[in-house]
Amino acid sequence: AATLPPTYVLRPLRKSDYAIGFLDVLRVLTTVGDITEEEWNERYDWMNNQGKGGYYIMVIEDQGKIVGTGALLVERKFIHHLGLVGHIEDIAVAKDQQGKKLGLKLIQALDLVAEKVGCYKCILDCSEANEGFYVKCGYKRAGLEMAHYY
Ligand code: ACO
Repeated sequence: AATLPPTYVLRPLRKSDYAIGFLDVLRVLTTVGDITEEEWNERYDWMNNQGKGGYYIMVIEDQGKIVGTGALLVERKFIHHLGLVGHIEDIAVAKDQQGKKLGLKLIQALDLVAEKVGCYKCILDCSEANEGFYVKCGYKRAGLEMAHYY
C-alpha cells in the first residue's frame, strides 16, 4: 500500500475535529446543515460510547485541517453465528485534495479495522459515478440498493 504524503496523518476522529473543518469535508458529500458544538458533542459521545457504539470514524489531517474522512459501522447479527458486518459510510475527500489516494487510504484503514474486529464482510452503497473508485479499493458490485424516505 502506498504511504500518505509527508504532512498528512490518518487517525481516528477526535471531538476537537469540530473546530478544524470536519463538517466542511462532509459537505462535499451532501447537505450537513448547521450543527452547534453542543449538538456535535452529544452525537460524538453517543457514537463513541467507550468503543461500544460500533462506530469507527477515521480522518486525514493535513497541517491542522481535516481533508478527508470515512466511517465504518459494525452491525451485530444473529445469522452466521452472531456474525459482524461492516458498513462503510460517508467517505469524503475535500475537493482540492481529491486524486491523491486519500480516499483509497481511508478505505484501506476502515477495511483493516473491520477485519480486526471480526467482520466477515464490508458493504457500502455508492453512485454509478463512484463505482470505479470502489473497484480500485477491492470492492465489487453486489446486490441492489433500495430506499424508503420519510
Ligand atoms: N471513478 C473511477 N475511478 C476513480 C474515481 C471515480 N469516481 N475516483 C477515484 N478513482 C480512482 C483514482 O483514479 C485512483 O486510481 P489509480 O490508483 O489508478 O490512480 C483510485 O480510484 C484511488 O483514488 P483516490 O485518489 O484515493 O480518490 P480520492 O481521494 O479522490 O477519493 C472519493 C475518492 C472519496 C470518491 C472522492 O472523490 C470524494 O470525496 N468524492 C465526493 C464525495 C463522494 O462521492 N464520496 C463517496 C460516497 S459513497 C460512500 O460514502 C459509501
